[in-house]
Amino acid sequence: MSGQMGAIGRIELRDIAVSFASGAGSSSGASDGARLIALDGVDLAIEPGQVVALIGPNGSGKSTLLRVVAGLLRPDRGTALLDGNPVDGPDPRVGLVFQEPRLLAWRTTASNIAYPLELAGVDRATRRARVAELLTIVGLEAAAVQVPSQLSGGMRQRAALARTLALRPEVLLLDEPFSALDELTRERLNLELLAITAHTPTTILLVTHSVQEAIFLADRVVVLSARPGRVVADIAVDLPRPRSLGDLDAAVVSATARTVRAHLGEAAA
Ligand SMILES: Nc1ncnc2c1ncn2[C@@H]1O[C@H](COP(=O)(O)OP(=O)(O)O)[C@@H](O)[C@H]1O
Ligand SMILES: [Mg+2]
Repeated sequence: MSGQMGAIGRIELRDIAVSFASGAGSSSGASDGARLIALDGVDLAIEPGQVVALIGPNGSGKSTLLRVVAGLLRPDRGTALLDGNPVDGPDPRVGLVFQEPRLLAWRTTASNIAYPLELAGVDRATRRARVAELLTIVGLEAAAVQVPSQLSGGMRQRAALARTLALRPEVLLLDEPFSALDELTRERLNLELLAITAHTPTTILLVTHSVQEAIFLADRVVVLSARPGRVVADIAVDLPRPRSLGDLDAAVVSATARTVRAHLGEAAA
């Protein structure tokens, strides 16, 4: 630990490169097969409490980049730093939410949310209090004793979010968390996410395909190029907080959306 108090949750990525065995030519058993370069030279710094939306063509390495920040994947080159220290494995300060909720099917909502607390050895009374608080935060009090198959897609995703928030992560990595949901559910969850982060300062790196969602949620929209992914644009969102859905009509939103789409167009070309 750096021992720095106050500003926690700073992410810094320096010259990150990741490649994978491409499979082609591997049948010979030789190890000289070409490698698929997923990321090549990603530099990005995210300040504590900042929300950054990451957007880019399919296969541009967005999920790969999140896995690097989460300590699930070691880059071939470059360094990922959390609060100034190199990331060298999964860290309880970093929470990750995937596109699919990945809940445990036989556990109730409450016990899914409690699961990371159990793993962390948190005592039962503290767990109960924390789970009750989280159920309220994500609006799932009435679904506490239901199992995932009894929940709607939006409820499952909220449960997954609550489970990730259980350990109060400094950093929240969201990989297209709402993309499988209908538009209305998605808008509601976006509002809830803003509310949650308004009273718990959290650094957020969010992957999304929606330019609108990126602008609504983020302080900055970072555009990745087509593979190999690197940062081609870093666009500030000049929209004051707190935000409401009505803000999406603001002229600055459409201007920012045009800028993002222009860079995305170049990125995909
Ligand atoms: N574990 C893996 N093994 C081999 N190739 C992978 C692996 N993970 C990702 N890739 C490849 O790396 C590239 C980037 O993938 P990904 O990070 O999932 O992109 P995105 O999330 O932007 O769509 C893609 O071409 C993908 O097929
Ligand atoms: Mg992905």
